[in-house]
Amino acid sequence: MAEKIAVFVAWPYVSGSCHLGHIAGAYLPPDIFARYHRLKGNEVLMVSGSDTHGTPITVRAEQEGVLPKQIVERYHNELISCFAQLGLSFDLFTYTDTENHYRVAQDMFLKLLNQGHIYKKEMETFYCQRCGRFLSDRYVEGICPYCDFPEARGDQCDNCGKPFDALKLIEPRCRFCHNRPAVRQTEHFFLDLSQFQQPLLDWVSKQKHWRPNVANFTLNLLKEGLRGRPITRDIDWGIPVPVEGYEHKRIYVWFEAVIGYLSATIEWAQNNGQPGNWTEWWQKPIRSYYFIAKDNIPFHTIIWPAMLMGHGDLNLPYDVPANEYLTLEGQKFSTSRNWAVWLPDYLSRYAPDPLRYSLTINAPESRDTDFAWKEFWFHNNNELVATWGNLVHRILTFTYKNFDRQVPTPGKLDEADWTMLAKIEEGFGVVGQLIEQCRFKAALSAVMKLTAEANRYFDSKTPWVTIKANPQTAATTLFVCLRVIDSLKTLFLPFLPFSSQALHQMLGYNGDIAGESEIKTFQEKERSHQVLVWKKPQRELSWSSSQLPSGQQLSKLRPLFRKLDESVVEEEMAHLEKGN
Ligand code: MF3
Ligand code: ZN
Repeated sequence: MAEKIAVFVAWPYVSGSCHLGHIAGAYLPPDIFARYHRLKGNEVLMVSGSDTHGTPITVRAEQEGVLPKQIVERYHNELISCFAQLGLSFDLFTYTDTENHYRVAQDMFLKLLNQGHIYKKEMETFYCQRCGRFLSDRYVEGICPYCDFPEARGDQCDNCGKPFDALKLIEPRCRFCHNRPAVRQTEHFFLDLSQFQQPLLDWVSKQKHWRPNVANFTLNLLKEGLRGRPITRDIDWGIPVPVEGYEHKRIYVWFEAVIGYLSATIEWAQNNGQPGNWTEWWQKPIRSYYFIAKDNIPFHTIIWPAMLMGHGDLNLPYDVPANEYLTLEGQKFSTSRNWAVWLPDYLSRYAPDPLRYSLTINAPESRDTDFAWKEFWFHNNNELVATWGNLVHRILTFTYKNFDRQVPTPGKLDEADWTMLAKIEEGFGVVGQLIEQCRFKAALSAVMKLTAEANRYFDSKTPWVTIKANPQTAATTLFVCLRVIDSLKTLFLPFLPFSSQALHQMLGYNGDIAGESEIKTFQEKERSHQVLVWKKPQRELSWSSSQLPSGQQLSKLRPLFRKLDESVVEEEMAHLEKGN
C-alpha cells in the first residue's frame, strides 16, 4: 500500500554560495531518498527553503554595505538555479521571508506562549559600546566554554557542536571591532525546555532506528539537563515578536526556521489548491525524515521536537539521519578562507551526475569523509565511464551492429542467463532496503557491484564469438543484457537521474522519467519571490525489473558520461590554491 513519506531538508542560510560540503551533508541524500520512494509508489512530500534570517545574513550584508534583503535575493536565486541543475526534486523549495511563514511562525510562538511553554525574563546580554548595539549569536566570538576552541561563535561551537548562551563564551569579543563587549540587561522570551526534558528523554530512548551518533549526541545533551533558551533578539532583521510592546524585538532565527517545515507544507498545499491538505502530513500517523548535517542535530532532536510537543497535535520526527562532515583535500571547508568548491563553479564545468555519484559513494554518513579532485576524476573515469558507461556502450553498439538496432528475440535461457536476471531482481530488494535505512553509500555500491557483474556476464558469454557460430545464443545474451541495463537504469535513477533519463531514451522509450525542477514565482499580497517546484515525470517508472520487449527499436547512442583528462585535477587544485 502506498505510504506517505515526508522528506524535510535543512534550510540553508543564503548568506553566500552553496558548496559541495553542504550538498554532501544535507541536500543530495534526501533527493535520493525521495526519488526512490516515489519509484516505490509512495507519496512523497519533499520541502525546504532558504533560511533568510539570522546573523550570517546580516553580517554579510554589513560587510558589503547592502541590505540583508539584497543578500537574500541574490543567493536564494543562485541557489535554486543550482539545485535545479543538480536535479534536486523538491516539491517545494521556498524561503522564510514570506507572509505565510511569518504568520505560521508567529502563531506557533503565541500558542506556545499561551500554553505556558514560553516565559519572559530579564537577562544579561553582550552590548558593544563601540558599535553601539547588542551582540548576539554570530556577532560575538570567543573561546568555547566546553572544548576551549578559540573561535566559537555566540550561538554554537563549530568544534564540539554544543549550542550555548553567548554569555558563556570565554574572552568574548565583538565580531566587528574586536572589542570586549559590556554586559547589559534586556528582556527576552524563553522557551522553557526544562519542561520537556523527561518527555524528550523517553521519546529519544525509544528511537532505536536513529543513527548512533545522532541518538548519543542527543542523549548526552538531555542527560546534562535542559534550561530555558532565549528565543528573541534585539535586532531588526527577522520576524517581529507578536506581543504588544515587544514588536521591535525579533524571533530568534532557529526558533522560526524549524517552523519552516510546517509553513512550507502549508504553502505547498495552498499552491496545489488544497489548503487543508497540510494536515495529512502533520496530523496523520506518517513518517517524517529530517535530512541535516551534524551541526544542526540539537535543533532537530531537542528544540523542534520540544516545540512540537508543546504545540501538541503535530507529528514528531521519525528519523533524523544527520550526516558527518565532508572535508576538501584534507581540510575543513572554509568560506572565509575560500577553501571550497562552489556549486555554481562546479556546474559551469561538469555534469551533475558525476558529482552526485562521487558525493554518494564517499558520503559522510557515519564518519567524516574527504572530497579530493583526484578521487573525483577517478570515480568519473574508472567507475562511471569504465564500468557503467562502458557496459551500456558495449551492449548497445553490439545490438546496433548485429540486430538491426532492435531488442533481439531470445531463445531458451541457460543457467547463467537466469542467474544474471535473478541477481538484478534481488538487487531491487537489497538496494531498496539500504535506501530505506538511509544507507545511500552502501546502496550505490550495491548497484555498482551489479554493474560489474553484468560486465562479467557479457564477457563470459562472448557474444562476439557466438554471433557467428550460434546467433540464437548471441540473441539470448543480448536480450538478457538489454533487460539488465534497463533494470540498472531504474536502480541508478535515484542517484543518477540525468544518465538514467538518457539511457531510457536510447533504449527506445520515450517520455520523461526523471522529472524536472521548475523555477516559479510565488505571489502573496505584498510580496513575491522565486521558488523551486518539481514537476513529476510524465512516465511513472516503478521500482522493479525491466519488461523491455523484443523488437523494441533502439534510438541513437550517446555516451552516458564524458571521460575527463587527468589535467583536470591539476587545474582544479591550482584554482583552489589560488582562491585560498
Ligand atoms: N540555516 C541553518 C544552517 O544553514 C539550518 C536551518 S535548518 C532549520 O545551518 F530547520 F532550522 F531550518
Ligand atoms: Zn566547543
